[in-house]
Amino acid sequence: MEQQKAQHRPRVLIFPFPAQGHVNAMLKLAELLAMEGLHITFLNTHFIHNRILLHNDIQACLSRYPGFLLKTISDGLPDEHPRSGDKIMDIIDSMSIRSKSVFKHMLVSGELGSDDSPLVTCIIADGIVGWFTTDIANELHIPIYHFRTIGACSFWVYFCVPNLIDAGELPIRGEEDMDRLTKRVPGMEKFLRCRDLPSFCRVKDLTDRDLVSVVRETHQSPRAQALILNTFEDLEGPVLSHIRIHCPKIYSIGPLNIHHKLRLTDIETTSSPSSSNLFEADRSCMAWLDAQPLKSVMYVSFGSIAVITKDQLMEFWHGLVKSKTRFLWVMRPDLVDEDRDKAQIPKELLDGTRERGFMVGWVNQEEVLAHPAVGGFLTHSGWNSTLESIAAGVPMICWPYFADQQVNSRFVSQVWKIGMDMKDVCDRKIVEKMVNDLMVERKEEFAKAADELCTVARKSVNEGGSSYCNWKGLIKDIFKVEN
Ligand code: UDX
Repeated sequence: MEQQKAQHRPRVLIFPFPAQGHVNAMLKLAELLAMEGLHITFLNTHFIHNRILLHNDIQACLSRYPGFLLKTISDGLPDEHPRSGDKIMDIIDSMSIRSKSVFKHMLVSGELGSDDSPLVTCIIADGIVGWFTTDIANELHIPIYHFRTIGACSFWVYFCVPNLIDAGELPIRGEEDMDRLTKRVPGMEKFLRCRDLPSFCRVKDLTDRDLVSVVRETHQSPRAQALILNTFEDLEGPVLSHIRIHCPKIYSIGPLNIHHKLRLTDIETTSSPSSSNLFEADRSCMAWLDAQPLKSVMYVSFGSIAVITKDQLMEFWHGLVKSKTRFLWVMRPDLVDEDRDKAQIPKELLDGTRERGFMVGWVNQEEVLAHPAVGGFLTHSGWNSTLESIAAGVPMICWPYFADQQVNSRFVSQVWKIGMDMKDVCDRKIVEKMVNDLMVERKEEFAKAADELCTVARKSVNEGGSSYCNWKGLIKDIFKVEN
């Protein structure tokens, strides 16, 4: 009887773009779906899979879900390719060309299933590789949903890039044109400047590969059964209404990290959440945080992809040190785009700030943001980091690096008013001033706004909230597709 029931379960294939910010969000989504009784196949590139293998806890946690499979596919790039910084974009084209036929073969051959649910009955693909995955899904008549790891705000700007080009708003005409308001992104005419457009819009040549790829992939989403977004209606309702004109079925189900934590508590209070980190977190900073006063620490991290120069590193360092604020800084081994030895912070600077500053290679960011000692986040404005900060009620200083981050930082400062935007500037005096503003001078104002938004975010994933209801709708939809 039980086996018969299992045979009728849909098998959902989850296919993320191979980068930390994509894999961790989609792994949370996968786990949430598994908790609903769906069988999951999580398809990673070999590069990401090998990282996951280093962390037995991920495998051990996933083994509690019957029918959860981890499978691999090649991204088509040579082993020595860095797969970070702006080179990350090479993966989109490489996969579109080289992984397409392998992907089809894997779906047809049944190697993505198990004995009790051999066939993939539904695909949830990262929309940034939406083109080839949708082509194959349609050819094989398998329903496909797109999931984007960016916010609705950035999705909508990406979607409107052809309008900007048609109206002659792109290319941007040099530095003097950067503060011009753009007029072709409906709903954002009053605050979106050329400076706030995604980084790939900063090109003279409109046939630039990255620009073309991102726009092409984004325009595949109307071909999908539905679009799933890690956001919530109270945060991005007006933007979602614009997107719905083109993608009528949108499931906004975020913030995924709170949603994920809540559901885990529902099913098993004693179990620790699965770690979706591709790097080993160093927990030594938690004891240091425990010893710091309430909301006194600025957490500094630029995510998993961004790289900075040694000069930028020094500007941030001097600014933070001069601000006299305590700080916890994630210094990824590949953060600085230079020779590792040359890129070290000078020892005398380190010695002079030991009690007020703590450096670490990688942390469990959600745990850090939730710590009562953390009062601000100096971030590169990746969408996961932005949402995790919102979910923890922590105001931000934004220093966007690339892609959607330029848009996110504008929304943080101008729309949600939970932080400040430092884009395109890296100067120790500005860093010092902004840190002081956020942590001292305007502390109350930002803390209050962040706190209010955090409450709304939590409501959305609780029973009866918009993300909760959308989640139930998505599950119903997936089961319906099967029957
Ligand atoms: C990328 C893009 O840059 C981002 O804009 C897009 O929305 C998703 O893909 P990334 O640059 O890594 O991701 O940034 P972000 O989206 O913020 O994701 C980083 C993730 O790594 C977060 O979930 C964060 O919690 C985690 N992290 C980061 C850690 O767990 N520990 C750290 O020390 C740093």
